[in-house]
Order: sequence, then C-alpha cells, then structure tokens
Amino acid sequence: MLIDSIGKSFRKTIIAGNWKMNKTPSEAKALIEEIAPLVKDAKCEVVCCVPYVDLATAIEAAKDTNIKIGAENCHWAESGAFTGEISTAMLKEIGVEYVVIGHSERRQYFGETDETVNKRTKAALAAGLKAIVCVGELLWERECNITKEVIARQIKLDLWDVSVEELKNVVIAYEPVWAIGTGKTATAEQAEEVCEFIRVCLNGLYGLEAAQGVTIQYGGSMNENNAAELLMKPNVDGGLIGGASLVAEKFASVVGATDFDY
Ligand code: 13P
Repeated sequence: MLIDSIGKSFRKTIIAGNWKMNKTPSEAKALIEEIAPLVKDAKCEVVCCVPYVDLATAIEAAKDTNIKIGAENCHWAESGAFTGEISTAMLKEIGVEYVVIGHSERRQYFGETDETVNKRTKAALAAGLKAIVCVGELLWERECNITKEVIARQIKLDLWDVSVEELKNVVIAYEPVWAIGTGKTATAEQAEEVCEFIRVCLNGLYGLEAAQGVTIQYGGSMNENNAAELLMKPNVDGGLIGGASLVAEKFASVVGATDFDY
C-alpha cells in the first residue's frame, strides 16, 4: 500500500475538544483551569474548541498553559451584513488558533454544504487560522456502501482551491455521523480504513509528501476507554472529542492515550 505507517511519527498528534453548545464563560474558565494541570506534560497538541462567547475567557484561562483555543465555526466574508456571524479577523484578534469547520451538526441543522465549508476553510486559512475540517458519512450512506464516494467528494470539494502550502494548516477530522453522540464508536479498524482512505485522497490531490504531513483525527464517541486503540492506528493522528471533552479527567485521559512509542 502506498500510504504506509511511516509518516505517523512525523505528524503532529492533536487532541481537540469540541465543546459544542456547552459551558458558559465562567464554566469555561473553571473547566480550562481543571484541564490545564492534567495535560501539562502532554505529548500531543491539546486544543479546546469552545462557543464564541467563551473564547476570550478561555484564551485568558489558557494563557501560560499548553492548551490552544479554537472556535467552532467562522464566516468567509471579511465583514458585512451577515447577522449572527463571526469573521476570521475577529477570531484572530483575540488569539484564537484553531477553528472547526463543517461539523456534521452544522451540515445537518444549519444548512452547511461542501461549498460553504470550502469558503469558510479558505477564509480561515487566509487569516492564518488552523482549520479542522470535518468529513464523515451518514449511517445510510455506510449501509449503501458509498462511504468512500462520500468522503472523496467531501475532501475534494471542501479543500477545493486550497494550496499545498495552505494544507499545512489543515487538520481533517473523520467523524462518521452515526458515531457522534450515540455511544457507537467506529471500531479502530473502521476508523483506520477511512482515515487511510482520506490520506489516499490527499495523495491524489497534493502528492505523497503533503499527504503524509496532514493530521487526520477520528471523532465520534471517542473517550478514555477506546482512545488508545484508535490512536495506535497508523492513520489516526488524533481525536476530535465531544462529550468526553467536557469532563476534565476524561479529556486528560484521552490526551494521555497519545503517549506511546510508535
Ligand atoms: P461525541 O464525542 O460526543 O460523540 O462527539 C463527537 C464530535 O462530534 C466531536 O466533534
């Protein structure tokens, strides 16, 4: 197989919490302060992606720690008449480093399409943010055996016109929609199969060297019990964690699961 495991040791392992619509600013401060000492010796990049109104507080609380702060979305326009939206410049100015784009909940409930995911991704990268671009198939699509077609299409469209240089600031999160918040984790083999396929797609679009450098996370009911098995797979370079990221010990334990010799 062209995509082997050699690249894993060179790639950045990233564990990111996606808090979704949870935690007020004061709760965010408390949670970051609880997480910080538990992950201070992490062998991976640790990111907390938090609601917009929590960002400033979270950035302040994470100052002098190894925790990076991310947003959960951004708009593609520089400014203008987009009521309720937040621009990349607004995020940059307050010190946000990462932004989640195209999460399945945004696609499912807020009409996000591959076209808007692509626009947001390009805007984030142009602003110097690191984009965590989410892809994943619905249960029905998996049952119809079109997972790879769905993923290939999302990767191609979501990264349309993203340069090989910009790709260095892209993280792909593979989140099978049927595994999100359901307690149903993809098996480590299922996760590896699709993460490897994502790298094959990236190889086709950007070449092997660039493809080998991209961090590919798994997300979907990942927790302190299943993280190690998933993270040991050659093409699973991290996790995007929902529910378990809201409990300091659980999140820290997922971070700790990246600490192995590969
Ligand atoms: P859960 O870990 O709660 O399944 O959520 C996964 C997710 O959607 C992360 O973005």
